[in-house]
Amino acid sequence: MGDTVAAMTAHPRWLHALIEANQAREGYDDAAAAALADEAAAMLGSLDFVIVDDGARGDGVALAVIEPNGRACCLEFAPAPGRAGSLLRSLADAARARGSDRLWSAGPPRWYLRSGVDADEADAWAALGARVTSRHVDLLVDASSCRPVAGEPSVERVDAAAIEGVARWVGQEFSNDWATEVRAAGAVGGVFVCRYGSDLAAFAAHSGHAVARGTFGPLGTARAARGRGLGGRIAAAAIADLWERGFETALVPWVEPSIVSLYGRVARVLDRRDRVLFTLNLAAPTK
Ligand SMILES: CC(C)(COP(=O)(O)OP(=O)(O)OC[C@H]1O[C@@H](n2cnc3c(N)ncnc32)[C@H](O)[C@@H]1OP(=O)(O)O)[C@@H](O)C(=O)NCCC(=O)NCCS
Repeated sequence: MGDTVAAMTAHPRWLHALIEANQAREGYDDAAAAALADEAAAMLGSLDFVIVDDGARGDGVALAVIEPNGRACCLEFAPAPGRAGSLLRSLADAARARGSDRLWSAGPPRWYLRSGVDADEADAWAALGARVTSRHVDLLVDASSCRPVAGEPSVERVDAAAIEGVARWVGQEFSNDWATEVRAAGAVGGVFVCRYGSDLAAFAAHSGHAVARGTFGPLGTARAARGRGLGGRIAAAAIADLWERGFETALVPWVEPSIVSLYGRVARVLDRRDRVLFTLNLAAPTK
């Protein structure tokens, strides 16, 4: 365990990226950086990890963490030019040797530096037989262009006492990964909900992401309540809250292509990046 953290901090590329991602955002301070570095060390210490530094072969550097459920998540993938295929093969072999049965092209919830692979890497994953699990979009929106819009049911900020109930609902309706992000967002007052009576109908969160401050998401409306404007209204309220906290822009990672229009309706979209999320089955021999 101690060795894991020592090796990780001795190879500081990823921690540097984490700190830089935060320094680039407003609202950064030394105490926040120190708290985040501690949290990163604790997370890395609680997980197994594989690191491939094939400097001698000139392939580049890759890092993955292996969750207890066997999912290996690639936190960093930095191939030398033309070496993406061989670096990926080394990473897959190393993860398999550590008992992992599947390798994902993005990091775990809250800790990914990127939500999927860029176009120049996609071929290497596809050539090794990786399966596309998501084609999505990362958006950057102008936070100043968002204003809360009145309507019924109203949008409420969730206080600390109510967060656990909302997180459990998000886990049941959407996913446990999103529930984890909601718990983290709730710790900084970044969760909003709409209710019909006492029933939760929609939620939105910001600032649950550890690696990039000023991040919006996740966002969800219960199936039965979709198409009534709740999603747009609650997203606008949460992004406007980021603006009030001093963020000029909000990152919105992992947007389904069919939902991009919703963000275009509530905010001015400044940038759009197309991403692909792959998963490689390590139980089968790598091609
Ligand atoms: C995306 C989501 C939050 C929208 O919630 P909503 O309360 O229906 O949102 P609104 O009524 O304000 O707007 C609906 C918009 O979503 C689009 N949409 C996509 N899928 C939809 C669905 N299954 N039902 C209704 N609308 C849907 C509509 O076309 C509409 O687009 P428009 O903004 O261009 O008019 C909701 O469909 C949901 O929870 N989806 C699953 C989780 C998800 O994908 N979250 C977004 C992650 S970025």
